[in-house]
Amino acid sequence: MTIIVTGGAGFIGSNFIFHMLNKYPDYRIICLDCLTYAGNLSTLEPVMSNPNFRFVKESITDREAVYKLFEEEHPDMVVNFAAESHVDRSIENPEVFLDTNIKGTAVCRNTHAFYSGPSTATPYQTSHLSDFAHVHFP
Ligand SMILES: NC(=O)c1ccc[n+]([C@@H]2O[C@H](COP(=O)([O-])OP(=O)(O)OC[C@H]3O[C@@H](n4cnc5c(N)ncnc54)[C@H](O)[C@@H]3O)[C@@H](O)[C@H]2O)c1
Repeated sequence: MTIIVTGGAGFIGSNFIFHMLNKYPDYRIICLDCLTYAGNLSTLEPVMSNPNFRFVKESITDREAVYKLFEEEHPDMVVNFAAESHVDRSIENPEVFLDTNIKGTAVCRNTHAFYSGPSTATPYQTSHLSDFAHVHFP
């Protein structure tokens, strides 16, 4: 299985990546993260040399970059942790919250819809953390 994990250089996403590579060593995990102030690439240092891991520095709001990544990797699933997550910052600069949390999520969802298509046997999925409890891995 190939999974794109957005926001994987953040707190929850990085722990998810560690967990998945540890529990499912044959899965391919691609981290898509634009490294805002909240993202820290050194957090992912323990998995950087894992052949089943790839880091891509792009924003989920960049439609072309997200489409290109889908073309390259053909993911089975996208787990979307990329977010502006600090509520206090939304008061100072709400636009970036709308861009990432709403537009970026829409880009991920539209890309998965475009690539899954009506005839695909295993449709692509996108999941927010709040949906994660409903995602079951083998
Ligand atoms: N931390 C918690 O306790 C907690 C609890 C419940 C829900 N959540 C939710 O989980 C998600 C992740 O939370 P977190 O604590 O890991 O956040 P975080 O702020 O630690 O990490 C967010 C990551 O997203 C990346 N990012 C931001 N904008 C991006 C963009 N446009 N494109 C690509 N990457 C981008 C950042 O660089 C960072 O690595 C959020 O939706 C948050 O609301 C977190």
